[in-house]
Amino acid sequence: MGGAMRHHWLLLGACGWVLLILMFVSKFITFRAVDDYGERVGGQSWTVPGTKMIRPVPVSSLQKTAPKPSDQSSAVPPVTGWQSEVERRSELLSSVCKNSSLRNLTHVSISKFVLDRIFVCDKRKILFCQTPKVGNTQWKKVLIVLNGAFPTVEEIPENLVHDHEKNGLPRLSSLKPQEITHRLSTYFKFFIVRDPFERLISAFKDKFVKNPRFEPWYKHDIAPAIIRKYRKSHRDNELSASGLHFEDFVRYLGDADGRHRMDRQFGEHIIHWVTYAELCAPCEIHYNVVGHHETLEQDAPHILKAAGIDQLVSYPAIPPGITRYNRTKVERYFSGISQRDIRRLYARYQGDFSLFGYPGPDFLLN
Ligand SMILES: *[C@@H]1O[C@H](CO)[C@@H](O)[C@H](O)[C@H]1NC(C)=O
Ligand SMILES: *[C@@H]1O[C@H](CO)[C@@H](O)[C@H](O)[C@H]1NC(C)=O
Ligand SMILES: *[C@@H]1O[C@H](CO)[C@@H](O)[C@H](O)[C@H]1NC(C)=O
Repeated sequence: MGGAMRHHWLLLGACGWVLLILMFVSKFITFRAVDDYGERVGGQSWTVPGTKMIRPVPVSSLQKTAPKPSDQSSAVPPVTGWQSEVERRSELLSSVCKNSSLRNLTHVSISKFVLDRIFVCDKRKILFCQTPKVGNTQWKKVLIVLNGAFPTVEEIPENLVHDHEKNGLPRLSSLKPQEITHRLSTYFKFFIVRDPFERLISAFKDKFVKNPRFEPWYKHDIAPAIIRKYRKSHRDNELSASGLHFEDFVRYLGDADGRHRMDRQFGEHIIHWVTYAELCAPCEIHYNVVGHHETLEQDAPHILKAAGIDQLVSYPAIPPGITRYNRTKVERYFSGISQRDIRRLYARYQGDFSLFGYPGPDFLLN
């Protein structure tokens, strides 16, 4: 009787401990959508709260906390071998930059628009070109901390992450011409890309379907303008309240000539769908690393190491497969789109496919 009783209490105590531990652990692994990852997977977004995604760790505790990519999945190659992949990409990029038949799609001038995309971390001599939909907010937070305006990523107020007047992470465009040239030629430079069509689908979903942040201009100004010009059936025009269709969006994106004037009206918002070449000028600016969203598990630690900041910050574990290219999704989105429109779209984005080594969408063009 007494023994059974003691058993009972021991069991209860053990349960209490397990509960406490679970509560503690869950603080670090609660998942939440982060603003530039609009997509959720299986009802849950994999990105840990923005504040925890990249956590500066003291050097002393680094051994324990720095995530090793090999811990996440036995299928991914170790980061040490990643340098050769990065070099292979670099060589491909420079050879495609030299290809004269793609010149229009790969070469851009280093305009104010491009300099606006690039953020400056003077403390660590890093330039980062921002490309939406690949987890860029997290990189920006790290650079803000490295620049010294805030002691930790957790202490950066959410509303200041994108306020570059106040967050101590200036845009390259805010500097004088000779300061810009100096940084472009001496700093470590990087940006992240993903499959061009998957990126467009992601932008479409985030800006015109869900629009989780309050950005009314996409649905109220940009969508109606695109519908007016590109919706095939004008009978559907009355239905424009139902919003932009992916087909309208594809026709707009693929209309190389007709787009210019509209894009000027749309202003900065076009950063979500103009080519990576237009955003970051990779043929004009010699970037040290172009990371791929699909291999972020390898690229993130590689970039931290190559930039010499791996002792100061770490990248959290990324659940395996979560950044993987999803061909089924691409097929599904393009299933109702005419071959002609897909070809036009590809013609417009072919530079990005080639520069970064993404296979063309042959499976959509049979
Ligand atoms: C240049 O690009 C075009 C279009 O992708 C391709 O057909 C051609 O083979 C490329 N030329 C070279 C020299 O790589
Ligand atoms: C490249 O740009 C030139 C000048 O803007 C234009 O005349 C030409 O048609 C373009 N070529 C392609 C393949 O788009
Ligand atoms: C790929 O996309 C399809 C269609 O959107 C979806 O049903 C499927 O779950 C996705 N697969 C993965 C592995 O996320």
